[in-house]
Amino acid sequence: MAEHTQLIDAINIRTSVRAYDADPIDDDTARQLSMTLDAVNMLSDTHMQLVRDQPAIFAEANASGHLTNAANLIAVIGPKDDPQARERAGFYAERVVLTATLRGLGTLWVGGSWNRDEAAGHCRIGAGEELYLGIVIGHPRNHAAHVMKSYEELTEFQRTHRPTKTYEQFTRTMEQEERDAAPGWFKAGVEAAMKAPSAMNRQPILFTYRAADGTAAAHIDPEAGNGEALNDLGIAKLHFQIGAGQGEWAWGDGGLFIHK
Ligand SMILES: Cc1cc2nc3c(=O)[nH]c(=O)nc-3n(C[C@H](O)[C@H](O)[C@H](O)COP(=O)(O)O)c2cc1C
Repeated sequence: MAEHTQLIDAINIRTSVRAYDADPIDDDTARQLSMTLDAVNMLSDTHMQLVRDQPAIFAEANASGHLTNAANLIAVIGPKDDPQARERAGFYAERVVLTATLRGLGTLWVGGSWNRDEAAGHCRIGAGEELYLGIVIGHPRNHAAHVMKSYEELTEFQRTHRPTKTYEQFTRTMEQEERDAAPGWFKAGVEAAMKAPSAMNRQPILFTYRAADGTAAAHIDPEAGNGEALNDLGIAKLHFQIGAGQGEWAWGDGGLFIHK
């Protein structure tokens, strides 16, 4: 198997995985995932948890064939009524998704294809917290063959497996001249965000390069928003940051990215 060690590699090969092998996540992998979740929870003030071997959460989606053998979940939990926490959860949970991708695991964000109440019953949710979303996690179907695939095969699949908005659509608020003058890191950031998961593949985030101060801005597109737009904003910002190489975002709709 090709060595995939960098987060940008994970972005280039990640796709949503809806069919899994029945093999459970072993204790060692679970421990490593839980350690990643603990670190991320500290950074982001969220309370994400790994829930293993609970296929009842996905009984309906598994029975209908929408999912196959979905049984494990990363429960994305954070403070109630806190829009910025939703964005942070998207950002940091996607960081866990990319780490899992590098370990050869498959993932799928879920807002609809699960039984939220059943999931909540397997989580520790504090009084001031709520269960935002879930991420199915497990071994992709035929994973022995999957791990043998070359990096090129996986990136080709990523590039072609679904429609995407174009670079021009992602930067809709910019003039062509401004696009041409934008630095390479901005283009690389947007291209990484184009590969990000988003609810119903709506890709609701717009990026702008601001030549006056050399920053980038991320906005929720008012024409493409959805119930999970804050989560998608966090995910898209993480992908952009990894694609751009170095730099940091301010939180919020309209938050600025300073490249370092
Ligand atoms: C917040 C969120 C919720 C999602 N909910 C579901 C879901 O309930 N069922 C499903 O099949 N896919 C779900 N998805 C996966 C998207 O459909 C998928 O990310 C999108 O189509 C892009 O495809 P990709 O992830 O393969 O790049 C969700 C994605 C996100 C980010």
